[in-house]
Amino acid sequence: MKACLLALVLVTEAWAGTPSDTRQQQLIHLLKHDCGSCHGLTLQGGLGPALLAEAIADKADAFLLTTILNGRKGTAMPPWRDFISPAEAQWLVSYLRHHQN
Ligand code: HEC
Repeated sequence: MKACLLALVLVTEAWAGTPSDTRQQQLIHLLKHDCGSCHGLTLQGGLGPALLAEAIADKADAFLLTTILNGRKGTAMPPWRDFISPAEAQWLVSYLRHHQN
């Protein structure tokens, strides 16, 4: 029952605009540990390109959003839509826009 409620809360949060503080912490953790495994722990680039504010400055939100949600066919960039909602991906893009080393 508790697990059920928790799942419901998580699903509701995932689709309700700005992610909650808890979810934001989870997304930052994901960014460091999962995205970081290809994009570098400090997002300075690795197998994948750098995701620092400067590096993505001239790329449109929609372009980055689509890349995160759908991945890029023929490259190592995997789709994340099963784990991240569109609102959360948008939040991540805004986060990246302000993220410098
Ligand atoms: C298995 C490796 C891998 C993982 C994990 C990964 N990426 Fe990527 N990502 C890539 C590669 C490789 C590219 C470049 C694809 C290309 O050549 O066009 C890329 C491209 C991108 C781009 C487009 C950057 C640009 O300058 O066009 C964004 C944004 C991005 N990734 C975000 C993320 C986020 C956010 C995560 C975690 C939720 C993530 N990636 C996890 C490999 C990865």
